Amino acid sequence: MDPAAAAADLFRRTFGAEPRHIAIAPGRVNLIGEHTDYSLLPVLPFAIDRATAVAIGPSDGPSVRAVSDAFPSPAHFPLDAVPATLAEPWHRYLAAARSALADRLPAEGACLAIASDLPAASGLSSSSALTVALLLAFDALWSLRLSRDDLVGLAAHAERLAGAETGGMDQRVIAFARPAHLLRIDFLPPAMTHLAVPGAWAFVVASSGQPAPKGGTARAAYNERVVATRIAAALLADLLGVDPLEAPVLGAIAAIDAAPLLVDELPARISARNAAAAAGIPLEPLVTLSAGAFDPDLPLPVRAFARHVLSEAERVDLACAAVTAGDLAALGELMAASHASLRDDYRCSTPALDALAKAMTNAGAAGARLTGAGFGGFAIAVCERGRERPVIDAAVAAAGGPAFTVTPSAGARLA
Ligand code: GLA
Repeated sequence: MDPAAAAADLFRRTFGAEPRHIAIAPGRVNLIGEHTDYSLLPVLPFAIDRATAVAIGPSDGPSVRAVSDAFPSPAHFPLDAVPATLAEPWHRYLAAARSALADRLPAEGACLAIASDLPAASGLSSSSALTVALLLAFDALWSLRLSRDDLVGLAAHAERLAGAETGGMDQRVIAFARPAHLLRIDFLPPAMTHLAVPGAWAFVVASSGQPAPKGGTARAAYNERVVATRIAAALLADLLGVDPLEAPVLGAIAAIDAAPLLVDELPARISARNAAAAAGIPLEPLVTLSAGAFDPDLPLPVRAFARHVLSEAERVDLACAAVTAGDLAALGELMAASHASLRDDYRCSTPALDALAKAMTNAGAAGARLTGAGFGGFAIAVCERGRERPVIDAAVAAAGGPAFTVTPSAGARLA
């Protein structure tokens, strides 16, 4: 059963009524441009044909009641006060979506039923899909008249409330994707470009067999990279004679020709505290994260991280040109280079992801790489249409699956 039908069915069984609306938000894969978004450098993701659906209707009182097909405990809390402890991780996203709407809440509550065919903790953005679907459902039920930009901003805010420090890619592609297109997202200045996918290309995604949870050690590793890239930006700005406080992100200086050349002059490792002192700036903009404070004395490998981010941004430009030219071999090479850079410089791959990308390439994919934050999760491969089967089989043999084709699909919508 597709997620929209499953959510409607669950709603009827749980609440004994027809849902008023069904909101659908797809997952996403990132084709290339990994760990660039929080440096305000471009990404090239697409929405996939797997989604989370939220069926919604009014409730008798001012409370939120929700059930999910994937998790046993229902959520039930008053509309005006979210309890401090919530039983399951998805309750946090629900509470956060409701909190993000704090100044727009009506008096009336809501009943929700959630169904999804997106694997969780996979790097396919199941949590952003859930958050966007929840907001879209609340928007429909309560006539909030949210624009797509509102939806993106509120979803990002909600995810930060739920504790995940992320860049701006996931919510934006989930909100704005079009069928059969990739979405190039630029952040500085903001822009979106829909790129048609050549009809002869196919995409396969495969699990590495290791989960990629957004919490715990993966969150700490992600935050280290957020801070390290800010440090690199501040030090490079200082070397370039640009005010490091203008914007301590690599995107603010990447266009300066000399910037990539100066990366080798960055220290191999430096802490935020020492970097702030060296650049003559306050520590705070380097280490302030919405998900909490960062240890300012932890030495971070800023040179290798900056090398990845700046080279990856260039690969996004080249990948867009390859897509436009229909050059599958060129795209494949860029994906292989991206994976190598994530493995060697950004250090967010795992042996299982390396083996998986290699197995898919050996089985005939033009290129393969980890997708999403890494530290586990999924890899993506691109191949000629009709050649998907051996790539899927090789992925399952290498890492145990699941592995399946994904099709560039529409963004979030009401059923
Ligand atoms: C996670 C984040 C994104 C992005 C990727 C890495 O998926 O949610 O914003 O930073 O990691 O490219």
